[in-house]
Amino acid sequence: MLDLKKYIDLIKDGEVVAFPTETVYGLGADAWNPTAIQKIFTIKGRPSDNPLIVHISDKTQLRQFVKKTPKKAEILMEAFWPGPVTIVFNKKTDVLDLITAGLDTVAIRMPDHELALQFISAAGPLVAPSANKSGKPSPTKPQHVLEDLGANFPVIDGGSTSIGLESTVIDLSRQIPAILRPGKIGKNEIESVLGQHVQFSTNSEDHTPKSPGQKYSHYKPNAEVVYHEPADFSDLALFLVQHSSERSSPNIINYDGDLQLMSRELYDRFRQADHEGYSKVVIAPIENFENSSPALYKALINRIQKAAGK
Ligand code: TXA
Ligand code: MG
Repeated sequence: MLDLKKYIDLIKDGEVVAFPTETVYGLGADAWNPTAIQKIFTIKGRPSDNPLIVHISDKTQLRQFVKKTPKKAEILMEAFWPGPVTIVFNKKTDVLDLITAGLDTVAIRMPDHELALQFISAAGPLVAPSANKSGKPSPTKPQHVLEDLGANFPVIDGGSTSIGLESTVIDLSRQIPAILRPGKIGKNEIESVLGQHVQFSTNSEDHTPKSPGQKYSHYKPNAEVVYHEPADFSDLALFLVQHSSERSSPNIINYDGDLQLMSRELYDRFRQADHEGYSKVVIAPIENFENSSPALYKALINRIQKAAGK
Protein backbone atom coordinates (compact mmCIF):
# COMPACT_ATOMS: atom_id res chain seq x y z
CA MET A 1 0.00 0.00 0.00
CA LEU A 2 1.15 3.51 -0.87
CA ASP A 3 2.79 5.37 2.03
CA LEU A 4 0.63 8.40 2.78
CA LYS A 5 2.70 9.80 5.62
CA LYS A 6 4.46 12.56 3.72
CA TYR A 7 1.14 13.74 2.24
CA ILE A 8 -0.55 13.72 5.65
CA ASP A 9 2.38 15.75 7.05
CA LEU A 10 2.02 18.27 4.22
CA ILE A 11 -1.66 18.81 5.09
CA LYS A 12 -0.80 19.20 8.78
CA ASP A 13 1.84 21.76 7.78
CA GLY A 14 -0.83 23.81 6.00
CA GLU A 15 0.06 22.72 2.46
CA VAL A 16 -2.23 21.41 -0.28
CA VAL A 17 -2.10 17.91 -1.76
CA ALA A 18 -3.90 16.40 -4.75
CA PHE A 19 -5.59 13.05 -4.09
CA PRO A 20 -7.74 10.59 -6.04
CA THR A 21 -11.46 10.03 -5.53
CA GLU A 22 -13.87 7.83 -7.49
CA THR A 23 -14.98 10.86 -9.55
CA VAL A 24 -11.98 13.13 -10.28
CA TYR A 25 -8.78 14.15 -8.46
CA GLY A 26 -9.28 16.69 -5.69
CA LEU A 27 -6.97 19.44 -4.43
CA GLY A 28 -7.13 19.02 -0.66
CA ALA A 29 -6.47 21.37 2.26
CA ASP A 30 -7.27 21.20 5.97
CA ALA A 31 -10.88 22.38 6.33
CA TRP A 32 -9.97 24.33 9.48
CA ASN A 33 -6.88 26.12 8.15
CA PRO A 34 -7.77 29.36 6.30
CA THR A 35 -4.20 29.95 5.08
CA ALA A 36 -4.11 26.49 3.53
CA ILE A 37 -7.55 26.98 1.95
CA GLN A 38 -6.50 30.32 0.49
CA LYS A 39 -3.68 28.45 -1.31
CA ILE A 40 -6.29 26.39 -3.17
CA PHE A 41 -7.84 29.52 -4.66
CA THR A 42 -4.43 30.91 -5.62
CA ILE A 43 -3.12 27.67 -7.14
CA LYS A 44 -6.29 27.02 -9.15
CA GLY A 45 -6.96 30.63 -10.08
CA ARG A 46 -10.43 30.01 -8.66
CA PRO A 47 -12.91 32.88 -8.11
CA SER A 48 -13.45 33.36 -4.39
CA ASP A 49 -17.26 33.30 -4.73
CA ASN A 50 -17.19 29.63 -5.76
CA PRO A 51 -17.60 27.50 -2.60
CA LEU A 52 -15.71 24.28 -1.85
CA ILE A 53 -16.84 20.77 -0.95
CA VAL A 54 -15.79 19.36 2.43
CA HIS A 55 -14.62 15.74 2.16
CA ILE A 56 -15.07 13.48 5.17
CA SER A 57 -14.20 9.86 5.90
CA ASP A 58 -16.62 9.25 8.75
CA LYS A 59 -20.15 10.46 9.47
CA THR A 60 -19.14 11.65 12.94
CA GLN A 61 -17.10 14.41 11.23
CA LEU A 62 -20.38 15.90 9.94
CA ARG A 63 -20.98 17.41 13.37
CA GLN A 64 -18.05 19.79 12.89
CA PHE A 65 -19.84 21.48 10.00
CA VAL A 66 -23.58 20.86 10.32
CA LYS A 67 -26.01 21.98 13.03
CA LYS A 68 -28.41 19.13 12.67
CA THR A 69 -28.65 16.34 10.17
CA PRO A 70 -32.03 16.32 8.46
CA LYS A 71 -33.80 12.97 8.08
CA LYS A 72 -33.52 13.27 4.29
CA ALA A 73 -29.75 13.58 4.60
CA GLU A 74 -29.62 10.46 6.79
CA ILE A 75 -31.47 8.58 4.07
CA LEU A 76 -29.18 9.81 1.28
CA MET A 77 -26.02 9.14 3.29
CA GLU A 78 -27.23 5.65 4.12
CA ALA A 79 -28.00 4.94 0.47
CA PHE A 80 -25.10 6.64 -1.31
CA TRP A 81 -22.12 7.23 1.04
CA PRO A 82 -19.35 6.61 0.55
CA GLY A 83 -20.08 7.61 -3.03
CA PRO A 84 -20.41 10.33 -5.66
CA VAL A 85 -23.14 12.39 -3.98
CA THR A 86 -22.43 15.77 -2.39
CA ILE A 87 -25.07 17.02 0.05
CA VAL A 88 -25.63 20.73 0.74
CA PHE A 89 -26.58 21.33 4.41
CA ASN A 90 -27.33 24.37 6.53
CA LYS A 91 -23.95 25.11 8.05
CA LYS A 92 -22.73 25.71 11.57
CA THR A 93 -21.74 29.34 12.05
CA ASP A 94 -18.06 28.60 12.62
CA VAL A 95 -17.52 26.93 9.24
CA LEU A 96 -15.00 29.17 7.46
CA ASP A 97 -16.48 31.68 5.01
CA LEU A 98 -13.65 30.83 2.64
CA ILE A 99 -15.23 27.38 2.22
CA THR A 100 -18.80 28.51 1.72
CA ALA A 101 -18.15 31.80 -0.10
CA GLY A 102 -20.32 33.44 2.52
CA LEU A 103 -23.37 31.20 1.91
CA ASP A 104 -25.18 29.83 4.95
CA THR A 105 -24.86 26.33 3.55
CA VAL A 106 -21.97 23.88 3.29
CA ALA A 107 -21.46 21.06 0.77
CA ILE A 108 -20.16 17.73 2.11
CA ARG A 109 -19.30 14.37 0.62
CA MET A 110 -17.66 11.08 1.55
CA PRO A 111 -15.72 9.71 -1.43
CA ASP A 112 -15.84 6.02 -2.30
CA HIS A 113 -12.10 5.54 -2.65
CA GLU A 114 -9.84 3.59 -0.31
CA LEU A 115 -6.83 5.96 -0.55
CA ALA A 116 -9.00 9.04 -0.16
CA LEU A 117 -10.71 7.63 2.93
CA GLN A 118 -7.39 6.66 4.53
CA PHE A 119 -5.92 10.06 3.73
CA ILE A 120 -8.89 11.99 5.11
CA SER A 121 -9.16 9.88 8.23
CA ALA A 122 -5.50 10.63 9.06
CA ALA A 123 -5.33 14.25 7.88
CA GLY A 124 -8.81 15.34 9.03
CA PRO A 125 -11.70 16.69 6.94
CA LEU A 126 -10.39 18.28 3.74
CA VAL A 127 -11.90 20.87 1.47
CA ALA A 128 -11.20 19.89 -2.10
CA PRO A 129 -12.22 21.29 -5.45
CA SER A 130 -11.18 19.38 -8.56
CA ALA A 131 -7.38 19.58 -8.92
CA ASN A 132 -7.30 21.41 -12.27
CA LYS A 133 -6.62 25.03 -13.15
CA SER A 134 -9.95 26.87 -13.06
CA GLY A 135 -11.83 26.44 -16.34
CA LYS A 136 -9.88 23.35 -17.44
CA PRO A 137 -11.20 19.78 -17.56
CA SER A 138 -11.10 18.05 -14.17
CA PRO A 139 -8.15 15.66 -13.69
CA THR A 140 -8.91 11.97 -13.96
CA LYS A 141 -5.25 10.85 -13.88
CA PRO A 142 -2.28 12.00 -11.78
CA GLN A 143 -0.56 13.27 -14.98
CA HIS A 144 -3.45 15.70 -15.52
CA VAL A 145 -2.78 17.27 -12.12
CA LEU A 146 0.94 17.62 -12.91
CA GLU A 147 0.11 19.16 -16.30
CA ASP A 148 -2.00 21.86 -14.68
CA LEU A 149 -0.24 22.43 -11.34
CA GLY A 150 3.40 21.68 -12.15
CA ALA A 151 5.60 18.60 -12.52
CA ASN A 152 6.60 18.55 -8.84
CA PHE A 153 3.15 19.06 -7.39
CA PRO A 154 2.36 16.60 -4.56
CA VAL A 155 -0.23 14.14 -5.83
CA ILE A 156 -1.26 10.82 -4.33
CA ASP A 157 -1.23 8.37 -7.24
CA GLY A 158 -4.41 6.33 -7.40
CA GLY A 159 -4.27 5.73 -11.17
CA SER A 160 -7.27 6.63 -13.33
CA THR A 161 -10.49 7.56 -11.54
CA SER A 162 -13.36 5.14 -12.14
CA ILE A 163 -16.30 7.49 -12.80
CA GLY A 164 -14.56 10.41 -14.47
CA LEU A 165 -17.29 13.05 -13.90
CA GLU A 166 -17.79 15.08 -10.73
CA SER A 167 -20.26 14.12 -8.00
CA THR A 168 -23.97 14.87 -8.06
CA VAL A 169 -24.61 17.96 -5.89
CA ILE A 170 -27.96 17.87 -4.09
CA ASP A 171 -29.24 20.73 -1.96
CA LEU A 172 -31.22 19.66 1.10
CA SER A 173 -31.27 23.13 2.66
CA ARG A 174 -34.49 23.98 0.84
CA GLN A 175 -38.04 22.64 1.08
CA ILE A 176 -37.87 20.67 -2.15
CA PRO A 177 -34.50 18.96 -2.61
CA ALA A 178 -32.72 20.25 -5.72
CA ILE A 179 -29.98 18.75 -7.86
CA LEU A 180 -27.50 21.59 -8.50
CA ARG A 181 -25.06 19.54 -10.54
CA PRO A 182 -26.01 16.27 -12.27
CA GLY A 183 -23.75 13.24 -11.75
CA LYS A 184 -23.68 9.45 -11.85
CA ILE A 185 -26.34 9.18 -9.15
CA GLY A 186 -29.45 10.61 -10.78
CA LYS A 187 -32.83 12.09 -9.98
CA ASN A 188 -34.65 8.74 -10.23
CA GLU A 189 -32.41 6.99 -7.73
CA ILE A 190 -32.56 9.92 -5.32
CA GLU A 191 -36.33 10.22 -5.61
CA SER A 192 -36.82 6.53 -5.06
CA VAL A 193 -34.85 6.47 -1.80
CA LEU A 194 -36.33 9.76 -0.55
CA GLY A 195 -39.86 8.90 -1.62
CA GLN A 196 -40.20 12.53 -2.68
CA HIS A 197 -40.08 14.71 -5.77
CA VAL A 198 -36.66 16.26 -6.47
CA GLN A 199 -36.11 19.16 -8.84
CA PHE A 200 -33.22 20.23 -11.05
CA SER A 201 -31.71 23.60 -10.46
CA THR A 202 -28.71 23.79 -12.75
CA ASN A 203 -27.72 27.05 -14.37
CA SER A 204 -29.49 26.56 -17.66
CA GLU A 205 -32.83 25.89 -16.02
CA ASP A 206 -32.76 28.36 -13.18
CA HIS A 207 -31.66 31.98 -13.40
CA THR A 208 -30.85 32.27 -9.75
CA PRO A 209 -28.54 29.31 -9.25
CA LYS A 210 -27.64 28.34 -5.71
CA SER A 211 -24.47 26.56 -6.81
CA PRO A 212 -22.23 29.45 -7.77
CA GLY A 213 -19.71 27.23 -9.54
CA GLN A 214 -22.26 26.47 -12.22
CA LYS A 215 -22.07 29.99 -13.63
CA TYR A 216 -18.39 29.83 -14.62
CA SER A 217 -17.01 28.35 -17.79
CA HIS A 218 -15.80 24.85 -17.12
CA TYR A 219 -14.20 21.70 -18.38
CA LYS A 220 -12.66 23.37 -21.42
CA PRO A 221 -9.65 22.17 -23.37
CA ASN A 222 -7.91 24.64 -25.71
CA ALA A 223 -9.50 22.82 -28.64
CA GLU A 224 -13.02 23.98 -29.44
CA VAL A 225 -15.65 21.47 -28.30
CA VAL A 226 -18.67 21.08 -30.58
CA TYR A 227 -21.66 18.83 -30.07
CA HIS A 228 -23.26 17.79 -33.35
CA GLU A 229 -23.24 15.04 -35.95
CA PRO A 230 -19.87 15.28 -37.79
CA ALA A 231 -20.27 16.59 -41.35
CA ASP A 232 -16.98 15.05 -42.42
CA PHE A 233 -14.06 13.43 -40.67
CA SER A 234 -11.27 15.97 -41.02
CA ASP A 235 -7.78 15.22 -39.70
CA LEU A 236 -7.90 18.44 -37.70
CA ALA A 237 -10.48 17.23 -35.20
CA LEU A 238 -10.78 14.48 -32.64
CA PHE A 239 -14.19 12.78 -33.03
CA LEU A 240 -16.13 11.04 -30.27
CA VAL A 241 -18.88 9.07 -31.99
CA GLN A 242 -21.50 6.44 -31.20
CA HIS A 243 -21.74 4.47 -34.43
CA SER A 244 -20.19 1.07 -34.69
CA SER A 245 -20.19 1.42 -38.48
CA GLU A 246 -17.68 4.26 -38.37
CA ARG A 247 -14.33 3.59 -40.00
CA SER A 248 -11.51 3.10 -37.57
CA SER A 249 -8.90 5.84 -37.35
CA PRO A 250 -6.74 7.29 -34.55
CA ASN A 251 -8.82 10.48 -34.45
CA ILE A 252 -12.22 8.73 -34.40
CA ILE A 253 -13.13 7.23 -31.05
CA ASN A 254 -16.23 5.07 -31.14
CA TYR A 255 -18.10 4.63 -27.85
CA ASP A 256 -21.01 2.75 -29.35
CA GLY A 257 -23.34 3.88 -26.57
CA ASP A 258 -21.02 2.96 -23.70
CA LEU A 259 -21.76 6.05 -21.60
CA GLN A 260 -19.80 4.71 -18.66
CA LEU A 261 -16.61 4.46 -20.71
CA MET A 262 -17.27 7.82 -22.32
CA SER A 263 -17.74 9.46 -18.90
CA ARG A 264 -14.55 7.89 -17.62
CA GLU A 265 -12.55 9.09 -20.62
CA LEU A 266 -14.16 12.41 -21.57
CA TYR A 267 -11.73 14.78 -19.83
CA ASP A 268 -8.74 12.68 -20.86
CA ARG A 269 -9.90 12.90 -24.50
CA PHE A 270 -10.18 16.70 -24.14
CA ARG A 271 -6.59 16.82 -22.92
CA GLN A 272 -5.49 14.37 -25.62
CA ALA A 273 -6.87 16.75 -28.26
CA ASP A 274 -4.64 19.51 -26.90
CA HIS A 275 -1.54 17.30 -26.71
CA GLU A 276 -2.01 16.08 -30.25
CA GLY A 277 -2.74 19.55 -31.61
CA TYR A 278 -6.34 19.06 -32.75
CA SER A 279 -8.24 22.33 -33.14
CA LYS A 280 -11.62 20.74 -32.36
CA VAL A 281 -13.27 17.94 -30.44
CA VAL A 282 -16.44 16.97 -32.30
CA ILE A 283 -18.87 14.97 -30.18
CA ALA A 284 -21.71 13.21 -31.99
CA PRO A 285 -25.12 13.32 -30.25
CA ILE A 286 -25.62 10.60 -27.66
CA GLU A 287 -29.36 10.92 -27.13
CA ASN A 288 -30.18 7.48 -28.57
CA PHE A 289 -28.47 5.91 -25.59
CA GLU A 290 -30.27 7.83 -22.86
CA ASN A 291 -32.28 4.83 -21.70
CA SER A 292 -29.21 2.81 -20.83
CA SER A 293 -28.25 5.26 -18.06
CA PRO A 294 -30.37 8.41 -17.71
CA ALA A 295 -28.21 9.87 -14.93
CA LEU A 296 -24.89 9.51 -16.74
CA TYR A 297 -26.54 10.76 -19.90
CA LYS A 298 -27.68 13.91 -18.13
CA ALA A 299 -24.28 14.43 -16.50
CA LEU A 300 -22.40 13.91 -19.76
CA ILE A 301 -24.64 16.35 -21.66
CA ASN A 302 -24.19 18.92 -18.87
CA ARG A 303 -20.37 18.71 -19.05
CA ILE A 304 -20.28 18.63 -22.86
CA GLN A 305 -22.55 21.68 -23.10
CA LYS A 306 -20.41 23.60 -20.64
CA ALA A 307 -17.23 22.62 -22.44
CA ALA A 308 -18.85 23.72 -25.72
CA GLY A 309 -20.15 26.99 -24.24
CA LYS A 310 -18.52 30.23 -25.34
O1 TXA B 1 -16.65 14.88 -7.49
C1 TXA B 1 -16.47 15.95 -6.93
O2 TXA B 1 -17.37 16.56 -6.35
C2 TXA B 1 -15.03 16.53 -6.97
C3 TXA B 1 -14.13 15.63 -6.13
C4 TXA B 1 -12.73 16.17 -5.98
O3 TXA B 1 -14.72 15.40 -4.88
N1 TXA B 1 -15.02 17.87 -6.49
C5 TXA B 1 -15.50 18.92 -7.21
O4 TXA B 1 -15.32 20.16 -6.62
O5 TXA B 1 -16.02 18.78 -8.31
P1 TXA B 1 -15.50 21.53 -7.41
O6 TXA B 1 -15.02 22.56 -6.46
O7 TXA B 1 -14.82 21.44 -8.72
O8 TXA B 1 -17.05 21.69 -7.56
C6 TXA B 1 -17.85 21.97 -6.42
C7 TXA B 1 -19.24 22.35 -6.84
C8 TXA B 1 -19.28 23.74 -7.45
O9 TXA B 1 -20.23 23.75 -8.50
C9 TXA B 1 -19.75 24.60 -6.26
O10 TXA B 1 -20.38 25.79 -6.64
C10 TXA B 1 -20.69 23.63 -5.57
O11 TXA B 1 -20.07 22.37 -5.68
N2 TXA B 1 -20.87 23.98 -4.15
C11 TXA B 1 -19.97 23.93 -3.15
N3 TXA B 1 -20.49 24.37 -1.99
C12 TXA B 1 -21.76 24.72 -2.25
C13 TXA B 1 -22.84 25.24 -1.44
N4 TXA B 1 -22.69 25.52 -0.17
N5 TXA B 1 -24.03 25.48 -2.05
C14 TXA B 1 -24.18 25.20 -3.36
N6 TXA B 1 -23.22 24.70 -4.17
C15 TXA B 1 -22.02 24.46 -3.62
MG1 MG C 1 -14.12 21.80 -10.58
